[in-house]
Amino acid sequence: MHSLNTEITNISSVKKDPRPRPQPLTIFPRGWFVIACSDALPPRKVLSLKYFGRQLVLWRTASGVPLLADAYCPHLGADLGHGGKVIDELLRCPFHGFCFDASGVCVSTPYPKSTPPKRAQLVTWPVVERGSFIFTYFDPEGSLPSWELPVLDESHYTPLRSQSWLMSGHPQDILENSVDFGHLTELHGYSTLPHATVSTNGPLLRADATIERPGTLFTRAGTTAKYQSFVWGLGVSYVDVHVAAQDLVLRLYVLVTPVIPGQVELWLAVKLKRLRNRHRVHPLLSLIPQRLCETFILRQAFKAYVTDVQKDFPVWQNKVYIEIPLLAQGDGPIPVYRRWARQFYGELK
Ligand code: FES
Ligand SMILES: [Fe+2]
Repeated sequence: MHSLNTEITNISSVKKDPRPRPQPLTIFPRGWFVIACSDALPPRKVLSLKYFGRQLVLWRTASGVPLLADAYCPHLGADLGHGGKVIDELLRCPFHGFCFDASGVCVSTPYPKSTPPKRAQLVTWPVVERGSFIFTYFDPEGSLPSWELPVLDESHYTPLRSQSWLMSGHPQDILENSVDFGHLTELHGYSTLPHATVSTNGPLLRADATIERPGTLFTRAGTTAKYQSFVWGLGVSYVDVHVAAQDLVLRLYVLVTPVIPGQVELWLAVKLKRLRNRHRVHPLLSLIPQRLCETFILRQAFKAYVTDVQKDFPVWQNKVYIEIPLLAQGDGPIPVYRRWARQFYGELK
């Protein structure tokens, strides 16, 4: 019979296991990331945000310009996201009333005969508004954007339907789904693996696939759908889905923004291309007015999309990053994605 002490001595003398233990990804990649939906920020609204491990303030001026800055006032440190007010084109601090313009410069104080301190300036971030979302560019060194997000013509689409979730995970792991064709049958119940081509061009990765679905909106019959995925950096992606049999075109967004290391906010959103032949979706829909029909289909499509992507949530929230994955025939072009993703880390080449 060994004593407890003897056993502890024996365990500590065992040789260390040299095999590496993979860990979750935690570094913030460089690039464009969504920070809000446009309709969450009407003119004069101020929002307190936390992304990239920073406390931020997002506001929209009276004339409609969205602006983002580090939240803390350079005067005495108040958080402008908590009580800051938009006065025309300026943001006014709730603590002593210093006012900041669109470039972050303090242009006035409420003190009589006082000019603003010379170096009083907010640290501002690049902001663009595209397709009902507001985006910022994150660079760990604070460098300016080295590429631009595309401007999409969405004039023939319905308004957006969207929802966001705060969760454990990393943008690179989540957007790897765009090329991880192997998981579609196991996790999502697709009947076959897609025929797909993948290409990269700078910050854009594009995947084109034809996928057999076991059923789609309003039909249980198997349907063929064409998927065109566009992944802009490690934060912004959308898929144009075309179901030819129903003359249905949907734009499905997956947008991921780092919050703190190991935590992200994930947005799922859907737009529907205005219907040209609603009877092709279902014969009964021709009896319903066009707009009502679109609202109904958009709601159903969003519900189905969220249900589908939520199957990925437990994997994303608990996985580790296998740097050299043990791939098998049938896996998607994950090495292509991983090589492309490297450009969003470290030094700019
Ligand atoms: S802390 Fe902002 S004006 Fe004083
Ligand atoms: Fe998935």
